Amino acid sequence: MPEGSAVQRLFAGIASRYDLANRVLSLGLCVGWRDRLVAATQTTRPTKVADLATGSGDVAFALRAALPASTTITGYDFCEPMLALGRRRAAKEKVALEFQPGDCMRLPIADEGCDAVTIAYGVRNFEDRARGLRELRRVTKPGGSVFILEFSKPAAWFAPFHFMHVRLISPILAGLLTGDFAAYRYLGTSIAGFPDAAGLTQELKNAGFSEASHESMLFGTVALHRAKK
Ligand SMILES: C[S@@+](CC[C@H](N)C(=O)[O-])C[C@H]1O[C@@H](n2cnc3c(N)ncnc32)[C@H](O)[C@@H]1O
Repeated sequence: MPEGSAVQRLFAGIASRYDLANRVLSLGLCVGWRDRLVAATQTTRPTKVADLATGSGDVAFALRAALPASTTITGYDFCEPMLALGRRRAAKEKVALEFQPGDCMRLPIADEGCDAVTIAYGVRNFEDRARGLRELRRVTKPGGSVFILEFSKPAAWFAPFHFMHVRLISPILAGLLTGDFAAYRYLGTSIAGFPDAAGLTQELKNAGFSEASHESMLFGTVALHRAKK
């Protein structure tokens, strides 16, 4: 698993072009995946949501648009330059969102402090995944849910296309967009080293969640996980 400080540096380096690179590399599909995460969260009618590894707040802004004004939404990340982008956008668009520094290995959130926790493309970067998943459970109220959107292992027939995209096309395209070719080579290796959706579901159960399930998207390339405490 990657070292936390290296992940922090990596995202600080690409922060300003991160959202654009995501849209281009996923051919815009990431918007639909994010909206599935938001729709799933919405069904639980949460009053207090923590969006972890929020980056510049892509998920947090979408949650804000979908949930009632009475719902508190806070984005946490350990990369200041990403948080700064979220704060700037919230001020510009006059959106009620808070962004706070927070490392998923030791979150600045009280036990059972939220009734929904969301995290998109963050778990794959955890330095210690078992510890991070236990931390997600700690901050969730009994009966509350954690929603994880993450890259996964595609079906065998789709794997060569996925491999070519992630290992060859993405580093070049994103390298040209962000100026950082190495950051997007990391994307490929981090996906390869990550469990498949069934594996992550089992890890969520091991972390103590009472229920865990997932739905796969784009032939298994991405998965939306739901875990209930
Ligand atoms: C791929 S970006 C995803 C950002 C956002 N969730 C999105 O969907 O656009 C991953 C983010 O996770 C953050 N991150 C990785 N590990 C973290 C950790 N242990 N604690 C807090 N943030 C973390 C990085 O700083 C980065 O902003």
